[in-house]
Amino acid sequence: MGNHSSGARLLIEEAGKRFGDKIVLEGVKLDIPAGQFVAIVGRSGCGKSTLLRLIAGLEEPTQGRLALDDSEINGIREDTRMLFQDARLLPWKRCVDNVKIGVKSGSGDKEKALEAMGLVGLRDRAKEWPGVLSGGQRQRVALARALVGEPRLLLLDEPLGALDALTRIDMQQLIEELWAKQQFTAVLVTHDVSEAVALADRVILIENGHIALDLMITLDRPRERDNDFVHFEKLILDRILERGKHEQRVVSYSI
Ligand SMILES: Nc1ncnc2c1ncn2[C@@H]1O[C@H](COP(=O)(O)OP(=O)(O)OP(=O)(O)O)[C@@H](O)[C@H]1O
Ligand SMILES: [Mg+2]
Repeated sequence: MGNHSSGARLLIEEAGKRFGDKIVLEGVKLDIPAGQFVAIVGRSGCGKSTLLRLIAGLEEPTQGRLALDDSEINGIREDTRMLFQDARLLPWKRCVDNVKIGVKSGSGDKEKALEAMGLVGLRDRAKEWPGVLSGGQRQRVALARALVGEPRLLLLDEPLGALDALTRIDMQQLIEELWAKQQFTAVLVTHDVSEAVALADRVILIENGHIALDLMITLDRPRERDNDFVHFEKLILDRILERGKHEQRVVSYSI
């Protein structure tokens, strides 16, 4: 797997999504340059996954349009891959064969799949069944399956949500490393503000179906959890909790 998969620019123009009478997203405008790492945060039910599904072409907007480089997004695409909270591996296929599914059509050789297993540090587990791997290892296989297709856009919907804290940090580092190497554009949905600040060039907060905050994280990489880091974390958390206060909600520190 070479280094020839470069990122795509994602343009979202006044996009909205309604389900029946329920407006989930409205007038969302975003211009994400090629290769940028964007994190999307916001309270449960604010529309994060819906936005990601629009970008993935899994749902159609009821308003506006979305485009990748110069082509309108109107269905799933070969150059876009998605990672979910669960690895979604086929239990009856060995790990390497699960990864092979992600190889671009026409170039499906096992060597590529093995190489991708190597990228995520699991080459020696290639012949095993998904069922004998740990949750974190399964998630790495899913990452290999996504990356073997040399995506220009990688979408991640809380991919680390089910992992323990240490495995999570390992995975964050792996994702950052592979993103730096392959230069795809990344959009990560997470409920973890600290994860957003650790990984993203830019954090978007969604509230009431709108973008409530669009913040550049101007920290050098690799990032350390120093004072500047905490400053960004606090800025975002305070902004999220502000609304909770107005609504007289019980404030909780995990969103
Ligand atoms: N297919 C659908 N039909 C009807 N309503 C939907 C559909 N998909 C999502 N919704 C509604 O849209 C809203 C936003 O859902 P979404 O899954 O995007 O939230 P989220 O921000 O990802 O939340 P969480 O953090 O809990 O994953 C919710 O109120 C949800 O019930
Ligand atoms: Mg969601």
